Amino acid sequence: MRLPRDSPFSPGSDTVPEVWAGRTSHLSDWRDVLRPRRIAGRHERGRTILGEAGSGKSSLVRRIAREASQSGDWTTPQLRIPSGTDPLKRVASALLDLSEAAGLAAAREKRIGDLLRRVETFAVSGVSLSMREQDGPEPHIALIDLLIEIGRAAIRHGDVMAVIHIDEVQNISDENALSQLLIALGDALTHEETVDVPGGLRIERALPIAVYLTGLPEFADMTGARKGATFARRFRTTTLGAIDDDALMSALQPFVTEGWPIADDAGGVGRVFMEPAAQRDIVERAHGEPFLFQLAGERAWYAGTDDLITAEHVRTGWRDAAPEAEAHVQRILIRIPPRELHFLEAMAALPPEERTLTNIARSLGYERTSDAGPTAQRLDLTRGIIRRGRPYDFRHRAIGAYLTSEWPWLNLG
Ligand SMILES: Nc1ncnc2c1ncn2[C@@H]1O[C@H](COP(=O)(O)OP(=O)(O)OP(=O)(O)O)[C@@H](O)[C@H]1O
Ligand SMILES: [Mg+2]
Repeated sequence: MRLPRDSPFSPGSDTVPEVWAGRTSHLSDWRDVLRPRRIAGRHERGRTILGEAGSGKSSLVRRIAREASQSGDWTTPQLRIPSGTDPLKRVASALLDLSEAAGLAAAREKRIGDLLRRVETFAVSGVSLSMREQDGPEPHIALIDLLIEIGRAAIRHGDVMAVIHIDEVQNISDENALSQLLIALGDALTHEETVDVPGGLRIERALPIAVYLTGLPEFADMTGARKGATFARRFRTTTLGAIDDDALMSALQPFVTEGWPIADDAGGVGRVFMEPAAQRDIVERAHGEPFLFQLAGERAWYAGTDDLITAEHVRTGWRDAAPEAEAHVQRILIRIPPRELHFLEAMAALPPEERTLTNIARSLGYERTSDAGPTAQRLDLTRGIIRRGRPYDFRHRAIGAYLTSEWPWLNLG
């Protein structure tokens, strides 16, 4: 019997979803590029992963961090930065925890003891306060020093990385705090450590440290212009788009072929199956959105109690989910500035094959086609909502569907 209690779907909760789909290039970037290169002492930039609300940024890096910690790496938890709070304080206290894992707290060197005490001051009282109280060096210097010590400890330990994940980076509204944070992380990433290698040689190597920053696309503007060049040399930014249907289908395939294992009443393992038609219907409703995928799956699971999820369950379950699905899309649209929103609406109003920049600019009443260019570029490169092909189309298919007659989806099937 399938009970809500056993559902592996997790719309909205900040955990690594059990029913995982896609994002293979990001996972392999961690496993095959970032980690091995850094462990080998080679430089590799930090990673900034941006995307619209619910695109799966936090889940992705949580999953990477979980993998890392399973292989023995020292990882911070996902450090969410609430609006208006002091990010350096939050990071300082997480680094103190890492230094515990790295065994630094037990070190008897006076230099390290002093450093930990300096960082503790920021971790407890916050940066602005502690800066007023003492005339020591700026707080980010202490953070760099601590990051370097953690990196050195990782080198001594061998085959271990320190992984730092800062989430909701768009909330760091204090420009000074943001720049100190980015400098501290960037300096630690570019730091060259001199080490002895067999054969009596001394070489310079990078520290085994990885930094992941995640947040909304607006963060790209905060690091643009002046700070941009240095930041871009130190961090590589990618924007998460929709998950393709093949990957969503594959994620549900275990339900179809062997059944999803659940604990049964007799203390054994039961299995919940899914009709191929139900699998297709869930993927269709998801529109490439991981949140909608989890939502449709969860609702279908809840819609019955036997061990087969049917297309009928997907349909009836979705009826209750429709308001939430709509709220999800609105949560994204509400943050889009009017000029970009008008562009999306004008684009959606045209028949798909007529969605060219010229036609969109004309329906917006612009004098020249090129007037719409920057908006189009932003919607494509920064937000990942459209694709400027011939013709233009919606990368974010849920927004596309919402703005066109394909909505409401609740009547589907
Ligand atoms: N690769 C994935 N496969 C399946 N489900 C996923 C995947 N990534 C994320 N999800 C699901 O999508 C939802 C949104 O994910 P998440 O909270 O990570 O997004 P986010 O981009 O961090 O959103 P926000 O901007 O609101 O913080 C969650 O329910 C999560 O379980
Ligand atoms: Mg998130």
